[in-house]
Amino acid sequence: MKKIVCLSIFLSFFILASSQAQNNKIVINADQEVSTISRHIYGHFAEHLGEGIYGGVWVGEDSDIPNTNGYRTDVLEALQHLEVPNIRWPGGCFADEYNWRDGIGPIDERPNTINTHWGMVIEDNSFGTHEFLNFTEMLGAEPVVAMNVGSGTPREMQNWIEYMNYDGDSDLANLRRENGRDEPWGVNYVGIGNESWGCGGNMDPAYYSDLYKRFATYVRDYSGNEITRVASGYSNEQYYWTDKVMEEASHMLDAISLHYYTIAGESWTNKGASVNFGEDLYFDGIRKALRLDEFIQGHKNRMDEYDPEERVGLFVDEWGIWTDPLPGSNPGFLQQQNSLRDALIAAISLDIMNKHSDRVWMANIAQMVNVLQAVILTEGDQMIKTPTYHVFDLYRVHFDTELLQTNSTITSYGHGGEVIPSISYTASKSDDGRINLTITNLDADNTQDVELDFRGIDHLGTVSTGMILTADEVSSINTFEDPENVILQDFSDHELDGTTLSVTLPSKSVVMLTIE
Ligand code: AHR
Repeated sequence: MKKIVCLSIFLSFFILASSQAQNNKIVINADQEVSTISRHIYGHFAEHLGEGIYGGVWVGEDSDIPNTNGYRTDVLEALQHLEVPNIRWPGGCFADEYNWRDGIGPIDERPNTINTHWGMVIEDNSFGTHEFLNFTEMLGAEPVVAMNVGSGTPREMQNWIEYMNYDGDSDLANLRRENGRDEPWGVNYVGIGNESWGCGGNMDPAYYSDLYKRFATYVRDYSGNEITRVASGYSNEQYYWTDKVMEEASHMLDAISLHYYTIAGESWTNKGASVNFGEDLYFDGIRKALRLDEFIQGHKNRMDEYDPEERVGLFVDEWGIWTDPLPGSNPGFLQQQNSLRDALIAAISLDIMNKHSDRVWMANIAQMVNVLQAVILTEGDQMIKTPTYHVFDLYRVHFDTELLQTNSTITSYGHGGEVIPSISYTASKSDDGRINLTITNLDADNTQDVELDFRGIDHLGTVSTGMILTADEVSSINTFEDPENVILQDFSDHELDGTTLSVTLPSKSVVMLTIE
């Protein structure tokens, strides 16, 4: 029998050949806490790209679309429900072309500029610093502001931070007051460049490291703020970048980023459709999304060399599935539908980041509204929550909890000659002792039985909540005509016997259980 064995320091699982009639077994050591799962792993990314901001979040006060001070009320309420912990803005590639001074002052006096990276459309700058930071306040989210390193200067960056954060009597702080905001916002997270190896300036890592240090010098902590400085990292297995930046600049950075986009299709020029796909594109999407684990581990290994004390975080500040654009849409707007497959990709990505929460303290799904793997889609005055939205809803149970140590024996799911585990999961413990489980059955066709054996605990109370996300097909979607095709439902196919919990997961499903 062929056995694939995957081991990590904290979690281990065996994959059994699918022909075996064995169940999945997970041992949860409820008294062994591995690391804290920061709520910031559940962050979002909102770029000036297509309808990500304009139409998706911001419609302006005079719009016919119901709004609260210019923000779409439906989107605001949907995001409030998710307790969005942080939002990264204004890009992405847009960040390295952005001049913050274009986005302050009376809206009708702001300049029209060109969004040269995303579709060459006119950017009227009506959504700027005040609009973004007030939005994060309304959501109770931390702002993560990406600075312009590619085409900007350290002075512009420093001025922007002073404008946002200084509470004293400087000209820039007073300009903020003239523009309607008395108190500083207290921005705590600043990105210094985005994809500086590509759209952010096509630099090599040695050059970027020098530039990073120059810019980071002028990220000042005003008025009691202690800013977390995030360096631009690379994507996938480009470990050489992390290696060099850590070697040259680790003493001056608090985090380095990693981007990972799942491409279900063959290549960047044939990424596969977001609708009406079959099991091939489903399986390949899941299989490739699972590679995030390997990539995070690879970057962590490099970081460990220069920072064994784990002072520096690895922020996965862009992740998600990137498909071909919807037919008929502007290719520069990155519009795609969002299916049950994508929700399962979100679940396994979040499980992987939870597992690496010793270094991964922040992550941002790309993107929040209307772009790539969006949690919300809008069209005119209509709004839908995507299947991915519901995964974010379920996973709130893991916010600021302790990851529990587990071992597992997992059956395999094979397709087209490839094999992956059929189950992905996270087990965590809240401050009040509640145990939170999210378990995903990746198998497109077969139900999976899972036996969870709790150790290090005398007795388990009751399963107080059970919810499930599933649908008829892996390609099932929500549409404006049928917005509730893929939604959360109550789930009760579980049985607690002493310290053993047995769960039966339908094919292609995500289940969340809490145990008091
Ligand atoms: O999310 C879309 C783009 O993907 C971002 O602007 C860029 O950082 C990445 O290449």
